[in-house]
Amino acid sequence: MGESMRFPDGFAWGVATASYQIEGGAFEGGRGESIWDRFSHTEGNVFEGQNGDVACDHFHRYPEDVALMADLGVTHYRFSMAWPRLQPDGSGQLNPAGLDFYSRLVDELLTNGITPWVTLYHWDLPQVLEEQGGWPERDIAYRFADYATKVHSALSDRIRHWTTLNEPWCSAFLGYAEGRHAPGRQDHPAALRAAHHLMLGHGLAVAEMRRSDPDADYGITLNLFPVDPATDSAADEDLARRIDGLMNRQWLDPLLRGRYPDDLLDDVRPVTDLAHIQDGDEKTINQPLDFLGVNYYFRHVLSVGEQQRVWQPGDEPSPWPGSSDMISVSRGWPTTEMGWEIDPAGLGEVLRRLQRDYGPIPLYVTENGMACPDEVDEDGGVHDADRVDYLQRHFRTAHRAIADGVDLRGYFVWSLLDNFEWALGYSKRFGLVHCDYETQRRTVKDSGHWFRAAAAANAVEP
Ligand code: NOJ
Repeated sequence: MGESMRFPDGFAWGVATASYQIEGGAFEGGRGESIWDRFSHTEGNVFEGQNGDVACDHFHRYPEDVALMADLGVTHYRFSMAWPRLQPDGSGQLNPAGLDFYSRLVDELLTNGITPWVTLYHWDLPQVLEEQGGWPERDIAYRFADYATKVHSALSDRIRHWTTLNEPWCSAFLGYAEGRHAPGRQDHPAALRAAHHLMLGHGLAVAEMRRSDPDADYGITLNLFPVDPATDSAADEDLARRIDGLMNRQWLDPLLRGRYPDDLLDDVRPVTDLAHIQDGDEKTINQPLDFLGVNYYFRHVLSVGEQQRVWQPGDEPSPWPGSSDMISVSRGWPTTEMGWEIDPAGLGEVLRRLQRDYGPIPLYVTENGMACPDEVDEDGGVHDADRVDYLQRHFRTAHRAIADGVDLRGYFVWSLLDNFEWALGYSKRFGLVHCDYETQRRTVKDSGHWFRAAAAANAVEP
Protein backbone atom coordinates (compact mmCIF):
# COMPACT_ATOMS: atom_id res chain seq x y z
CA MET A 1 0.00 0.00 0.00
CA GLY A 2 2.96 2.33 -0.39
CA GLU A 3 2.92 5.18 2.07
CA SER A 4 -0.09 3.87 3.89
CA MET A 5 -1.59 5.14 7.12
CA ARG A 6 -0.89 2.28 9.52
CA PHE A 7 -3.01 1.72 12.60
CA PRO A 8 -1.49 0.68 15.93
CA ASP A 9 -0.74 -3.01 16.41
CA GLY A 10 -3.77 -4.84 17.74
CA PHE A 11 -6.23 -2.32 16.30
CA ALA A 12 -9.69 -3.94 16.10
CA TRP A 13 -11.00 -4.26 12.54
CA GLY A 14 -14.60 -4.97 13.30
CA VAL A 15 -18.06 -5.20 11.82
CA ALA A 16 -21.32 -4.67 13.69
CA THR A 17 -24.88 -5.99 13.58
CA ALA A 18 -27.86 -6.18 15.94
CA SER A 19 -30.16 -9.05 16.84
CA TYR A 20 -33.51 -7.83 15.56
CA GLN A 21 -31.94 -6.47 12.39
CA ILE A 22 -30.40 -9.76 11.21
CA GLU A 23 -31.49 -12.81 13.18
CA GLY A 24 -34.99 -13.70 12.08
CA GLY A 25 -36.04 -16.93 13.77
CA ALA A 26 -38.53 -14.75 15.56
CA PHE A 27 -40.74 -17.63 16.62
CA GLU A 28 -38.07 -20.22 17.29
CA GLY A 29 -36.13 -21.47 20.26
CA GLY A 30 -38.74 -20.24 22.72
CA ARG A 31 -38.06 -16.59 21.89
CA GLY A 32 -40.57 -14.20 23.45
CA GLU A 33 -42.16 -11.24 21.70
CA SER A 34 -40.18 -8.01 21.58
CA ILE A 35 -41.42 -4.45 21.23
CA TRP A 36 -40.07 -4.50 17.67
CA ASP A 37 -42.19 -7.55 16.80
CA ARG A 38 -45.27 -5.80 18.09
CA PHE A 39 -44.38 -2.44 16.52
CA SER A 40 -43.46 -3.80 13.09
CA HIS A 41 -46.56 -5.98 12.95
CA THR A 42 -48.70 -2.93 13.61
CA GLU A 43 -49.76 -1.24 10.39
CA GLY A 44 -48.23 2.06 9.43
CA ASN A 45 -45.06 1.82 11.51
CA VAL A 46 -42.50 0.34 9.14
CA PHE A 47 -41.78 0.91 5.44
CA GLU A 48 -44.09 -1.32 3.38
CA GLY A 49 -45.23 -3.16 6.49
CA GLN A 50 -41.92 -5.03 6.74
CA ASN A 51 -40.68 -6.78 9.88
CA GLY A 52 -37.77 -8.80 11.29
CA ASP A 53 -39.47 -12.22 11.29
CA VAL A 54 -36.88 -13.58 8.86
CA ALA A 55 -34.47 -10.67 8.25
CA CYS A 56 -31.10 -12.16 7.13
CA ASP A 57 -32.00 -15.52 8.68
CA HIS A 58 -28.78 -15.27 10.65
CA PHE A 59 -30.38 -17.42 13.36
CA HIS A 60 -29.94 -20.37 10.98
CA ARG A 61 -27.11 -19.11 8.80
CA TYR A 62 -24.69 -17.89 11.46
CA PRO A 63 -21.97 -20.43 10.49
CA GLU A 64 -22.00 -19.03 6.94
CA ASP A 65 -21.92 -15.48 8.27
CA VAL A 66 -19.01 -16.19 10.59
CA ALA A 67 -17.16 -17.81 7.66
CA LEU A 68 -17.79 -14.63 5.67
CA MET A 69 -16.32 -12.53 8.47
CA ALA A 70 -13.29 -14.77 8.64
CA ASP A 71 -12.87 -14.37 4.89
CA LEU A 72 -13.03 -10.58 5.25
CA GLY A 73 -10.34 -10.63 7.91
CA VAL A 74 -12.67 -9.29 10.60
CA THR A 75 -10.88 -9.39 13.96
CA HIS A 76 -13.82 -8.34 16.21
CA TYR A 77 -17.55 -8.90 15.79
CA ARG A 78 -19.99 -6.58 17.53
CA PHE A 79 -23.43 -8.18 17.82
CA SER A 80 -26.31 -7.89 20.21
CA MET A 81 -28.31 -10.43 22.14
CA ALA A 82 -32.09 -10.44 21.98
CA TRP A 83 -33.36 -10.07 25.54
CA PRO A 84 -36.63 -11.89 24.65
CA ARG A 85 -34.63 -14.87 23.35
CA LEU A 86 -32.92 -15.13 26.72
CA GLN A 87 -35.73 -14.09 29.03
CA PRO A 88 -38.93 -14.59 27.02
CA ASP A 89 -41.00 -13.37 29.98
CA GLY A 90 -38.65 -10.51 30.81
CA SER A 91 -37.44 -12.12 34.04
CA GLY A 92 -36.43 -15.41 35.61
CA GLN A 93 -34.02 -18.12 34.55
CA LEU A 94 -32.46 -17.91 31.10
CA ASN A 95 -34.14 -19.81 28.28
CA PRO A 96 -31.74 -22.71 27.50
CA ALA A 97 -32.45 -22.66 23.75
CA GLY A 98 -31.73 -18.93 23.53
CA LEU A 99 -28.54 -19.26 25.50
CA ASP A 100 -27.50 -22.21 23.35
CA PHE A 101 -27.83 -20.12 20.18
CA TYR A 102 -25.49 -17.40 21.47
CA SER A 103 -23.14 -19.96 22.94
CA ARG A 104 -22.82 -21.70 19.56
CA LEU A 105 -22.31 -18.35 17.83
CA VAL A 106 -19.55 -17.41 20.27
CA ASP A 107 -17.83 -20.76 19.79
CA GLU A 108 -18.00 -20.36 16.04
CA LEU A 109 -16.42 -16.90 16.33
CA LEU A 110 -13.65 -18.06 18.63
CA THR A 111 -12.89 -21.04 16.41
CA ASN A 112 -12.43 -18.56 13.57
CA GLY A 113 -10.20 -16.29 15.63
CA ILE A 114 -12.80 -13.52 15.88
CA THR A 115 -13.28 -11.71 19.18
CA PRO A 116 -16.93 -11.49 20.26
CA TRP A 117 -18.00 -7.98 21.33
CA VAL A 118 -21.44 -8.16 22.82
CA THR A 119 -24.17 -5.58 23.28
CA LEU A 120 -26.78 -6.64 25.81
CA TYR A 121 -29.50 -4.26 24.62
CA HIS A 122 -29.93 -3.06 21.07
CA TRP A 123 -33.59 -2.03 21.28
CA ASP A 124 -35.55 -5.32 21.33
CA LEU A 125 -37.17 -5.09 24.74
CA PRO A 126 -39.41 -8.00 25.79
CA GLN A 127 -42.95 -6.83 25.03
CA VAL A 128 -44.08 -8.05 28.42
CA LEU A 129 -41.81 -5.48 30.09
CA GLU A 130 -43.26 -2.71 27.95
CA GLU A 131 -46.66 -3.80 29.18
CA GLN A 132 -45.39 -3.29 32.71
CA GLY A 133 -44.50 0.30 31.78
CA GLY A 134 -41.27 -0.12 29.82
CA TRP A 135 -38.20 2.09 30.24
CA PRO A 136 -40.14 4.98 31.80
CA GLU A 137 -40.66 2.82 34.92
CA ARG A 138 -37.81 2.55 37.42
CA ASP A 139 -38.21 -1.18 37.97
CA ILE A 140 -36.93 -1.85 34.47
CA ALA A 141 -33.42 -0.76 35.44
CA TYR A 142 -33.34 -3.63 37.94
CA ARG A 143 -34.84 -6.03 35.39
CA PHE A 144 -32.10 -5.07 32.92
CA ALA A 145 -29.35 -5.57 35.49
CA ASP A 146 -30.81 -8.98 36.35
CA TYR A 147 -30.87 -10.01 32.69
CA ALA A 148 -27.34 -8.67 32.11
CA THR A 149 -25.80 -10.43 35.08
CA LYS A 150 -27.43 -13.76 34.24
CA VAL A 151 -26.17 -13.65 30.64
CA HIS A 152 -22.78 -12.49 31.82
CA SER A 153 -22.36 -15.29 34.30
CA ALA A 154 -23.37 -17.84 31.63
CA LEU A 155 -21.00 -16.60 28.93
CA SER A 156 -18.19 -14.54 30.44
CA ASP A 157 -15.89 -17.53 30.26
CA ARG A 158 -15.74 -16.81 26.50
CA ILE A 159 -17.01 -13.24 26.07
CA ARG A 160 -14.57 -10.69 27.49
CA HIS A 161 -16.05 -7.44 26.10
CA TRP A 162 -19.47 -6.41 27.39
CA THR A 163 -21.48 -3.42 26.21
CA THR A 164 -24.64 -2.64 28.11
CA LEU A 165 -26.65 -0.42 25.77
CA ASN A 166 -26.62 0.74 22.19
CA GLU A 167 -27.60 4.37 21.56
CA PRO A 168 -29.82 5.01 24.58
CA TRP A 169 -30.84 8.33 23.00
CA CYS A 170 -32.72 6.38 20.33
CA SER A 171 -34.33 4.00 22.82
CA ALA A 172 -35.60 6.89 24.91
CA PHE A 173 -36.43 9.62 22.41
CA LEU A 174 -37.27 7.81 19.15
CA GLY A 175 -39.17 5.17 21.16
CA TYR A 176 -41.01 7.25 23.75
CA ALA A 177 -41.05 10.89 22.58
CA GLU A 178 -41.10 10.73 18.82
CA GLY A 179 -42.81 7.36 18.50
CA ARG A 180 -41.04 6.53 15.27
CA HIS A 181 -39.38 3.51 16.88
CA ALA A 182 -40.85 0.84 19.13
CA PRO A 183 -42.77 1.02 21.36
CA GLY A 184 -44.11 4.02 19.44
CA ARG A 185 -45.13 6.24 22.34
CA GLN A 186 -45.28 10.03 22.16
CA ASP A 187 -44.84 11.21 25.70
CA HIS A 188 -41.96 13.60 26.36
CA PRO A 189 -41.81 13.28 30.15
CA ALA A 190 -41.85 9.48 29.74
CA ALA A 191 -38.89 9.74 27.34
CA LEU A 192 -36.88 11.66 29.94
CA ARG A 193 -37.65 9.02 32.55
CA ALA A 194 -36.71 6.32 30.05
CA ALA A 195 -33.38 8.05 29.46
CA HIS A 196 -32.59 8.03 33.16
CA HIS A 197 -33.64 4.42 33.68
CA LEU A 198 -31.50 3.31 30.74
CA MET A 199 -28.54 5.01 32.41
CA LEU A 200 -29.41 3.53 35.79
CA GLY A 201 -29.77 0.05 34.31
CA HIS A 202 -26.35 0.46 32.71
CA GLY A 203 -24.78 1.45 36.04
CA LEU A 204 -26.41 -1.36 38.01
CA ALA A 205 -25.43 -3.92 35.38
CA VAL A 206 -21.80 -2.81 35.12
CA ALA A 207 -21.40 -2.78 38.91
CA GLU A 208 -22.78 -6.33 39.22
CA MET A 209 -20.88 -7.76 36.27
CA ARG A 210 -17.61 -6.23 37.42
CA ARG A 211 -18.13 -7.53 40.93
CA SER A 212 -18.39 -11.08 39.64
CA ASP A 213 -15.62 -10.74 37.01
CA PRO A 214 -13.31 -7.74 37.46
CA ASP A 215 -11.04 -8.72 34.59
CA ALA A 216 -13.47 -8.47 31.68
CA ASP A 217 -14.03 -5.16 29.85
CA TYR A 218 -17.23 -3.18 30.33
CA GLY A 219 -18.56 -0.24 28.34
CA ILE A 220 -21.46 1.39 26.57
CA THR A 221 -22.13 2.63 23.04
CA LEU A 222 -23.49 6.14 22.41
CA ASN A 223 -24.46 7.91 19.21
CA LEU A 224 -22.58 11.19 19.38
CA PHE A 225 -22.66 14.23 17.15
CA PRO A 226 -20.91 17.53 16.68
CA VAL A 227 -23.70 20.10 17.17
CA ASP A 228 -23.04 23.46 15.53
CA PRO A 229 -25.14 26.62 15.46
CA ALA A 230 -25.88 27.63 11.86
CA THR A 231 -25.11 31.29 12.66
CA ASP A 232 -23.44 33.11 15.52
CA SER A 233 -26.76 34.54 16.71
CA ALA A 234 -27.39 34.07 20.42
CA ALA A 235 -30.57 32.11 19.64
CA ASP A 236 -28.78 29.62 17.40
CA GLU A 237 -25.94 29.23 19.86
CA ASP A 238 -28.39 28.52 22.65
CA LEU A 239 -30.22 25.98 20.52
CA ALA A 240 -26.94 24.18 19.76
CA ARG A 241 -26.11 24.13 23.48
CA ARG A 242 -29.54 22.68 24.27
CA ILE A 243 -29.39 19.95 21.65
CA ASP A 244 -25.79 19.11 22.56
CA GLY A 245 -27.10 18.70 26.11
CA LEU A 246 -29.83 16.29 25.09
CA MET A 247 -27.93 14.28 22.54
CA ASN A 248 -24.39 14.20 23.90
CA ARG A 249 -23.95 15.47 27.46
CA GLN A 250 -27.14 13.85 28.83
CA TRP A 251 -25.25 10.53 28.56
CA LEU A 252 -21.59 11.49 28.77
CA ASP A 253 -21.79 13.60 31.91
CA PRO A 254 -23.49 11.14 34.26
CA LEU A 255 -21.48 8.23 32.83
CA LEU A 256 -18.07 9.86 33.00
CA ARG A 257 -18.46 12.72 35.50
CA GLY A 258 -21.18 11.42 37.79
CA ARG A 259 -23.56 14.35 37.25
CA TYR A 260 -26.22 15.42 34.79
CA PRO A 261 -25.35 18.83 33.33
CA ASP A 262 -27.10 21.67 35.20
CA ASP A 263 -28.16 23.39 31.99
CA LEU A 264 -29.82 20.19 30.73
CA LEU A 265 -31.77 19.82 33.98
CA ASP A 266 -32.88 23.46 33.69
CA ASP A 267 -33.96 22.90 30.09
CA VAL A 268 -36.16 19.91 30.89
CA ARG A 269 -37.68 21.20 34.15
CA PRO A 270 -40.71 22.64 32.33
CA VAL A 271 -41.79 19.10 31.40
CA THR A 272 -40.63 17.06 34.39
CA ASP A 273 -40.20 17.54 38.11
CA LEU A 274 -37.10 15.28 37.88
CA ALA A 275 -38.41 13.19 40.79
CA HIS A 276 -37.30 10.07 38.91
CA ILE A 277 -33.66 11.00 39.56
CA GLN A 278 -33.11 9.74 43.08
CA ASP A 279 -30.24 10.39 45.47
CA GLY A 280 -27.32 8.16 44.62
CA ASP A 281 -28.45 7.39 41.07
CA GLU A 282 -25.79 9.52 39.44
CA LYS A 283 -23.15 7.77 41.50
CA THR A 284 -24.51 4.39 40.37
CA ILE A 285 -24.41 5.50 36.75
CA ASN A 286 -20.83 6.74 37.12
CA GLN A 287 -19.19 3.29 37.06
CA PRO A 288 -15.61 3.06 35.89
CA LEU A 289 -15.64 2.05 32.21
CA ASP A 290 -13.04 0.13 30.25
CA PHE A 291 -14.12 1.65 26.96
CA LEU A 292 -16.60 3.98 25.36
CA GLY A 293 -18.19 3.01 22.05
CA VAL A 294 -18.92 5.82 19.61
CA ASN A 295 -21.45 5.53 16.79
CA TYR A 296 -20.85 8.34 14.33
CA TYR A 297 -22.87 9.21 11.23
CA PHE A 298 -23.28 12.98 10.84
CA ARG A 299 -23.22 16.47 12.29
CA HIS A 300 -26.12 18.67 13.37
CA VAL A 301 -26.12 22.23 12.07
CA LEU A 302 -29.01 23.97 13.75
CA SER A 303 -30.92 27.17 13.53
CA VAL A 304 -33.96 28.75 15.11
CA GLY A 305 -36.72 30.21 12.97
CA GLU A 306 -37.88 30.25 9.39
CA GLN A 307 -34.90 29.32 7.25
CA GLN A 308 -33.95 26.86 4.54
CA ARG A 309 -35.32 23.48 5.50
CA VAL A 310 -37.83 22.91 8.27
CA TRP A 311 -37.45 19.66 10.12
CA GLN A 312 -40.06 17.13 9.03
CA PRO A 313 -41.26 14.00 10.77
CA GLY A 314 -39.22 11.28 9.08
CA ASP A 315 -36.00 13.24 9.15
CA GLU A 316 -33.36 11.58 11.22
CA PRO A 317 -32.87 12.06 14.08
CA SER A 318 -35.67 13.91 15.74
CA PRO A 319 -34.83 17.05 17.62
CA TRP A 320 -36.58 17.49 20.93
CA PRO A 321 -37.68 19.44 22.90
CA GLY A 322 -38.45 22.59 21.01
CA SER A 323 -38.51 20.83 17.66
CA SER A 324 -41.19 23.09 16.31
CA ASP A 325 -38.79 26.02 16.22
CA MET A 326 -35.69 24.08 15.27
CA ILE A 327 -34.29 23.87 11.80
CA SER A 328 -31.71 21.41 10.66
CA VAL A 329 -29.73 23.36 8.10
CA SER A 330 -28.60 21.58 4.98
CA ARG A 331 -25.21 22.68 3.72
CA GLY A 332 -25.91 21.09 0.36
CA TRP A 333 -23.18 18.51 0.86
CA PRO A 334 -23.42 15.02 -0.66
CA THR A 335 -25.57 12.74 1.44
CA THR A 336 -25.99 9.02 1.97
CA GLU A 337 -29.26 7.25 1.12
CA MET A 338 -30.36 8.15 4.65
CA GLY A 339 -30.14 11.82 3.70
CA TRP A 340 -27.24 12.31 6.11
CA GLU A 341 -24.52 14.71 4.95
CA ILE A 342 -21.17 12.98 4.58
CA ASP A 343 -18.87 14.70 7.06
CA PRO A 344 -15.79 12.70 8.03
CA ALA A 345 -14.27 15.64 9.92
CA GLY A 346 -17.14 15.37 12.39
CA LEU A 347 -15.84 11.99 13.50
CA GLY A 348 -12.49 13.52 14.36
CA GLU A 349 -14.20 16.30 16.28
CA VAL A 350 -16.23 13.86 18.34
CA LEU A 351 -13.19 11.74 19.17
CA ARG A 352 -11.04 14.74 20.13
CA ARG A 353 -13.78 16.19 22.26
CA LEU A 354 -14.13 12.95 24.18
CA GLN A 355 -10.42 12.80 24.80
CA ARG A 356 -10.28 16.46 25.83
CA ASP A 357 -13.44 16.74 27.94
CA TYR A 358 -13.94 13.22 29.27
CA GLY A 359 -10.65 11.37 28.85
CA PRO A 360 -8.55 9.51 29.33
CA ILE A 361 -10.72 6.62 28.17
CA PRO A 362 -10.15 3.95 25.52
CA LEU A 363 -12.44 4.64 22.59
CA TYR A 364 -13.84 2.43 19.85
CA VAL A 365 -15.84 3.52 16.86
CA THR A 366 -18.60 0.95 17.35
CA GLU A 367 -20.54 2.05 14.26
CA ASN A 368 -19.91 4.02 11.13
CA GLY A 369 -21.09 3.25 7.64
CA MET A 370 -23.17 4.31 4.71
CA ALA A 371 -26.49 3.36 3.12
CA CYS A 372 -26.25 3.07 -0.67
CA PRO A 373 -28.66 1.86 -3.36
CA ASP A 374 -26.67 -1.32 -3.94
CA GLU A 375 -27.53 -3.92 -6.56
CA VAL A 376 -25.81 -7.06 -7.72
CA ASP A 377 -24.32 -6.22 -11.12
CA GLU A 378 -24.37 -8.41 -14.22
CA ASP A 379 -20.80 -9.44 -13.48
CA GLY A 380 -21.96 -10.78 -10.09
CA GLY A 381 -20.28 -8.05 -8.05
CA VAL A 382 -21.67 -5.12 -6.08
CA HIS A 383 -19.77 -1.99 -7.07
CA ASP A 384 -20.30 0.39 -4.18
CA ALA A 385 -17.54 2.89 -4.94
CA ASP A 386 -19.28 5.58 -2.86
CA ARG A 387 -19.14 3.41 0.24
CA VAL A 388 -15.46 2.60 -0.34
CA ASP A 389 -14.74 6.32 -0.58
CA TYR A 390 -16.85 7.04 2.52
CA LEU A 391 -15.07 4.41 4.60
CA GLN A 392 -11.67 5.44 3.37
CA ARG A 393 -12.28 9.06 4.36
CA HIS A 394 -13.64 8.18 7.79
CA PHE A 395 -10.83 5.74 8.54
CA ARG A 396 -8.29 8.41 7.56
CA THR A 397 -9.91 10.78 10.00
CA ALA A 398 -9.68 8.12 12.69
CA HIS A 399 -6.02 7.61 11.88
CA ARG A 400 -5.32 11.33 12.21
CA ALA A 401 -7.11 11.40 15.56
CA ILE A 402 -4.84 8.61 16.81
CA ALA A 403 -1.81 10.52 15.56
CA ASP A 404 -3.08 13.48 17.61
CA GLY A 405 -3.13 11.34 20.74
CA VAL A 406 -6.69 10.04 20.84
CA ASP A 407 -6.77 6.57 22.41
CA LEU A 408 -8.80 4.90 19.66
CA ARG A 409 -8.45 1.13 19.79
CA GLY A 410 -10.72 -0.11 17.03
CA TYR A 411 -13.38 0.54 14.43
CA PHE A 412 -16.53 -1.46 13.68
CA VAL A 413 -18.16 -0.85 10.31
CA TRP A 414 -21.95 -0.79 10.25
CA SER A 415 -22.76 -3.28 8.98
CA LEU A 416 -21.59 -6.77 8.11
CA LEU A 417 -24.77 -7.40 6.10
CA ASP A 418 -27.60 -5.40 4.61
CA ASN A 419 -30.36 -5.70 7.19
CA PHE A 420 -33.63 -4.45 8.70
CA GLU A 421 -33.14 -0.70 9.10
CA TRP A 422 -35.86 -0.26 11.74
CA ALA A 423 -38.74 1.97 10.59
CA LEU A 424 -37.17 2.06 7.12
CA GLY A 425 -37.37 -1.72 6.78
CA TYR A 426 -35.15 -3.31 4.13
CA SER A 427 -35.09 -0.16 2.00
CA LYS A 428 -31.65 0.99 3.21
CA ARG A 429 -28.59 -1.14 2.63
CA PHE A 430 -25.59 -0.60 4.92
CA GLY A 431 -23.72 -3.90 4.45
CA LEU A 432 -20.20 -4.72 3.35
CA VAL A 433 -22.02 -7.82 2.18
CA HIS A 434 -25.17 -7.65 0.05
CA CYS A 435 -28.14 -9.71 1.16
CA ASP A 436 -30.75 -10.90 -1.34
CA TYR A 437 -33.75 -11.22 0.93
CA GLU A 438 -35.57 -13.59 -1.49
CA THR A 439 -32.82 -16.18 -1.65
CA GLN A 440 -30.73 -15.18 1.40
CA ARG A 441 -27.76 -15.15 -0.92
CA ARG A 442 -24.79 -13.15 0.38
CA THR A 443 -22.50 -11.27 -2.04
CA VAL A 444 -19.39 -9.48 -0.84
CA LYS A 445 -19.49 -5.89 -2.11
CA ASP A 446 -16.45 -3.97 -3.33
CA SER A 447 -16.44 -2.29 0.09
CA GLY A 448 -16.09 -5.74 1.66
CA HIS A 449 -13.06 -6.41 -0.52
CA TRP A 450 -11.71 -2.98 0.44
CA PHE A 451 -12.20 -3.85 4.12
CA ARG A 452 -10.35 -7.15 3.68
CA ALA A 453 -7.33 -5.41 2.18
CA ALA A 454 -7.30 -2.65 4.80
CA ALA A 455 -7.67 -5.07 7.72
CA ALA A 456 -4.91 -7.30 6.33
CA ALA A 457 -2.58 -4.31 5.97
CA ASN A 458 -3.77 -2.76 9.24
CA ALA A 459 -3.71 0.42 7.20
CA VAL A 460 -5.59 2.61 4.74
CA GLU A 461 -4.24 4.53 1.80
CA PRO A 462 -3.50 8.17 2.54
C1 NOJ B 1 -27.62 3.11 14.58
C2 NOJ B 1 -28.09 1.81 15.15
O1 NOJ B 1 -27.37 1.38 16.25
C3 NOJ B 1 -28.26 0.73 14.10
O2 NOJ B 1 -29.15 -0.19 14.63
C4 NOJ B 1 -28.72 1.34 12.80
O3 NOJ B 1 -29.07 0.39 11.86
C5 NOJ B 1 -27.61 2.22 12.26
N1 NOJ B 1 -27.25 3.23 13.25
C6 NOJ B 1 -27.92 2.92 10.94
O4 NOJ B 1 -28.99 3.78 11.11
